Amino acid sequence: MTTSLIERYRDRLPVSPQTPVVSLGEGSTPLLPAPRLAASAGIRELWLKWEASNPTGSYKDRGMTVAVSKALEQGADAVLCASTGNTAGSAAAYAARAGLPALVLTPEGAVSGAKLAQTRMLGATILEVQGSFDDALRAAQELAERGAHVLVNSLNAHRREGQKTAVFEVVEELGEAPDVFVLPYGGGGNTSSYAQALSELGLETPIVSVEAADRRETLATAIRIGEPVHAASVRDAGARVLDVSDDELVAAWRALAEEEGLFCEPSSAAGLAAVLRGDVEGDRIVVTITGHGLKDPAAAELHAPRPTLVAPDPDAIASAFAGRKR
Ligand code: F0G
Repeated sequence: MTTSLIERYRDRLPVSPQTPVVSLGEGSTPLLPAPRLAASAGIRELWLKWEASNPTGSYKDRGMTVAVSKALEQGADAVLCASTGNTAGSAAAYAARAGLPALVLTPEGAVSGAKLAQTRMLGATILEVQGSFDDALRAAQELAERGAHVLVNSLNAHRREGQKTAVFEVVEELGEAPDVFVLPYGGGGNTSSYAQALSELGLETPIVSVEAADRRETLATAIRIGEPVHAASVRDAGARVLDVSDDELVAAWRALAEEEGLFCEPSSAAGLAAVLRGDVEGDRIVVTITGHGLKDPAAAELHAPRPTLVAPDPDAIASAFAGRKR
């Protein structure tokens, strides 16, 4: 039977026997070796924490199961978030599972169509805010402060509690801490969660958080965030912050797909881009891949090779394929 994240880590999460568990079978995601990328980057061991295999396709589900379970326990009348798309899909799914309404605020014109479709199907109310993600988050916070609706952005401590479990899984699976954890840096909620997990485990493993060099314009819309709301805790946690250009990000994103068979969304490749550039030290590096490539097919259509048109004839097909290598 599928184990929910809350059942797996009940003793380390803020839940009691009275908390109604709202689960879609999140967590327990694969930790995959990346031998080809490791060899080409000259790294002894490179591991990928494949968070795309969470139920809604991103790591957000780890936090959302805890946040929505607690919201239900507290008698919330709705959950509310601002989102570049993944928090939206996750909040919508767990709210549906809990029987709660979900209100999602998105930055106008800046969310992938697939994420919007997912969130719409899941029955959330989506309001496109005339402004950036930062504007939408401020509005969401102000509305949440009025009462009844529970904010399920990573400002919600229950979200961060759930997200820390990714570190627990990695350490359990490797049998010890890796040399370093590397992950993308948008608002910084996940970095704060990882730091919290390490401190609970009594570990001092370094964290490298990788942001887009141009935060406001990056093609990686998931991390198109001008003002990271957790910047202070990222700093206090001692995480090393690096940035990557969109070109570096796209190169890493494509290499991960072509060389290791993992299709993620562009933002998810931020950590890997810094590793492949040679900026992260360690013999055993764990990189978190945060969201699935099918979350943003339009980005893939822009950057992946196009199909060739061919007659339905085996000779024509064979010659079009001749000489193709990996
Ligand atoms: N990777 C993905 C796929 C994301 O969707 C996000 C953030 C991040 C990384 C950055 O993580 O904010 O914890 O530093 N997505 C938010 C959203 C903003 O609304 O879905 P962070």
